[in-house]
Amino acid sequence: MSQKIHFAVNGLATQVSADPKQSLLDVLRNDLQLKATRLGCGLGQCGACRVIVDGHAVAACDTPMWAVADKNITTLEGLGSPQAPHPLQSAFIAHQAAQCGFCTSGMLMTAAALLQRQPHPSENEIKQALEDNLCRCGIHQRVLQAVMQVAA
Ligand code: FES
Ligand code: FES
Repeated sequence: MSQKIHFAVNGLATQVSADPKQSLLDVLRNDLQLKATRLGCGLGQCGACRVIVDGHAVAACDTPMWAVADKNITTLEGLGSPQAPHPLQSAFIAHQAAQCGFCTSGMLMTAAALLQRQPHPSENEIKQALEDNLCRCGIHQRVLQAVMQVAA
């Protein structure tokens, strides 16, 4: 049964009427029309749907709405814009760290959460943070270079 759930998305107070068991990904994409967060595996295993919830990168496909009540959520739409890109977005462009781009939103949000917690992570720490973000195009090395540039 639907109930009202309050949270903040990209700094805006938001309320939806949703089944508490519905996934955050469904609500972001279908109710709030925030389509930058991608549906990949739908099983919490590929990282394509990652968003930041209270400072931590989480799989939106595997996060029920009850778990985000009163939390602060950041999606790719809140990270930067074409006019004012986040440093990670500029670095991804500079390093051409995308091919088809399907994994890119999740990669950026995972890296952004890491840099929020720890502005200068080591190469190993970046690798560890990104190890569950899968990319079937094989651009991990470029992503690593881009994140390392911002972390330096
Ligand atoms: Fe959520 Fe794969 S779509 S982890
Ligand atoms: Fe295609 Fe990563 S760039 S899946």
